[in-house]
Amino acid sequence: MHEKILLRQGAEANLYKSEYLGKEALIKERIPKDYRNAELDSEIRKRRTKEEAQLLYNAKALGVRTPLIYKIDLSGATIIMEFIEGKRMKDALNGKNLNLCKLLGNKIGILHSNGIVHGDLTTSNIIIHNNAPVFIDFGLGFHSRKTEDFAVDLLNFRKTYNATHYKLGKGWNLIVRGYIERRGNAGKEVVGRIPKIEERGRYL
Ligand SMILES: Nc1ncnc2c1ncn2[C@@H]1O[C@H](COP(=O)(O)OP(=O)(O)O)[C@@H](O)[C@H]1O
Ligand SMILES: [Mg+2]
Repeated sequence: MHEKILLRQGAEANLYKSEYLGKEALIKERIPKDYRNAELDSEIRKRRTKEEAQLLYNAKALGVRTPLIYKIDLSGATIIMEFIEGKRMKDALNGKNLNLCKLLGNKIGILHSNGIVHGDLTTSNIIIHNNAPVFIDFGLGFHSRKTEDFAVDLLNFRKTYNATHYKLGKGWNLIVRGYIERRGNAGKEVVGRIPKIEERGRYL
């Protein structure tokens, strides 16, 4: 086993940088929760690990960049995946690369058109690599065909986008444009649903 360097301790998982078959790798290890019954906890972590790996795989098959999966260890609730070089969108986006936003909207459109809801779209869960977005952290993702689920996915993203990039407001319009460009009327329907969800104020 190669050495593991702890990168981040999240609420759900520990992230390590390591090596796998001579390549830089990222190890995502879901951590046990004390407040849950141990057996149930282990089942939940196993299930989420499997689902996350499947979503990463499905997205990639659609042409949406995600880290390549190297190895899955269900009993250890661990995924070993490609380490993506680059900055998180949170740190990478500026006035000069705002065109990225349109591409990003396009990619979200591809996910939704194929029934994948990311579930945690934030500017920390997108890494900008070679000037293109790579989606990570499908830990809250799921399959759906509902306009409502897609609209909530976008609305959550808009909230974190606006909080992080309040000076780059145009970027959000580009994300929406890229999304609608990809999805046509279905996309317009999703975007149109957002204010209705906000009005209801019950999306959380
Ligand atoms: N494959 C990867 N390559 C490079 N960095 C990654 C990778 N996966 C995660 N990270 C880094 O670790 C952070 C947390 O990972 P993430 O999968 O989002 O876990 P969490 O569920 O704790 O949010 C990311 O914001 C990113 O900076
Ligand atoms: Mg994350």
